[in-house]
Amino acid sequence: MNLSKMNIPLNLSTFGHDEIRAAVNVLESGHVTMGKQCFEFEEQFAQTLNVKNAIFVNSGSSANLLAFFALANFAMPEIKGRKRMQPGDEVIVPALTWSTTVWPILQAGGVPVFVDSDPETLQMKFEDVEKAISPKTVAICPVHVLGNAVPMGPIKQLAEKHRLWIIEDTCESLGTKHQGKTVGTWGDIGTYSFFFSHHITTIEGGMIVTPHDDIAELLRTLRAHGWTRHLKNREAVEKKYPDLDPRYLFVNMGFNLRPTEVNAAFGKIQLKKLSAFNDRRVEIANTWNNAFVDLISSGSLIPMKTTAQTDSTWFGYPVLLKNEETKRKFQGHLEKNGIETRPIICGNLARQPAFKTLPHRTVSDLSGANRVMDSGIYWGSHPLMSKIEVDYVIKTVKEFW
Ligand SMILES: Cc1ncc(COP(=O)(O)O)c(C=O)c1O
Repeated sequence: MNLSKMNIPLNLSTFGHDEIRAAVNVLESGHVTMGKQCFEFEEQFAQTLNVKNAIFVNSGSSANLLAFFALANFAMPEIKGRKRMQPGDEVIVPALTWSTTVWPILQAGGVPVFVDSDPETLQMKFEDVEKAISPKTVAICPVHVLGNAVPMGPIKQLAEKHRLWIIEDTCESLGTKHQGKTVGTWGDIGTYSFFFSHHITTIEGGMIVTPHDDIAELLRTLRAHGWTRHLKNREAVEKKYPDLDPRYLFVNMGFNLRPTEVNAAFGKIQLKKLSAFNDRRVEIANTWNNAFVDLISSGSLIPMKTTAQTDSTWFGYPVLLKNEETKRKFQGHLEKNGIETRPIICGNLARQPAFKTLPHRTVSDLSGANRVMDSGIYWGSHPLMSKIEVDYVIKTVKEFW
């Protein structure tokens, strides 16, 4: 077996002839803006995840944007005593997340309250979530980081007790299950990303799911101009305004965050491949977990631990090193040998320069998120990785020690 220097990128494109053919068919049909393909993809996504409503948008960030703007919108229904977000209200969110989990909270007038994460599982700490609750809290935003899952049972109980919304950012964990239930479908709204490197891709794209029909209608309005055109109950709404032209009827404000038919054509094919892709991700991670068992037991290398009762889908292979210096050397060793690496998302987001200015509150010293930021990295575990590449990673990692 030839294990001389190889290139192991974070990700490779997972689309092929079928997706390209479907995209070309859409282009040739002339129907390229949001329509039949998008609605079919939404339907199929909802069925795959066993959720009532799915709303396709142009990115995972847009999905988060709509989720928090819905929360603050005058048309947000107050379900089971949970309140609409008013300016200055708080949303509990892990400091260890991606930036566009948090910007939409601020953009919609809320204040993020950062909680810490367990550095080994990378998921937010329940004790911190409890501590973070204040009279201003309106929502908890669990983020399922890098294919793993936040244990959702206690979060759900806590949210019910305090009448809080749950918005799950699932952009990194499509297909992951916790206690047999798909993450993103535990709460009131779940968001997903189909960016190029994610579990499936629509080039750019995202999805929002919700069990609540009236929130789904609100999200559809906000997605496209505040317009009634793509509402499920369009006719009923139009009947209320007989003196207005139903073709251009605006019942709310809104954005234009629509996806295209090309994105949907990709998505429909990729969705069929999701479970095989995820199986391969798990297989790769298990191979590495087994191969590194000595390094793990000596504490030299600490790969992400799956939370209890979770079937993780391993969006990359995150590891902690002993300290920052070892991380720097290890990262240099991997990169020098052609293995691409990344920081574990934004680390402690509260330490990013933007938060010198932006309003936020923190709970605890965020030492878990700091540990991840200072001494954690990840490399790819993409489903097209061959056995030779998987072995090359093992050899290169072991060589460091
Ligand atoms: C946790 C999380 N939220 C939101 C996003 C945004 O998704 P997108 O890149 O599709 O805008 C990402 C992107 O990687 C993410 O990791």
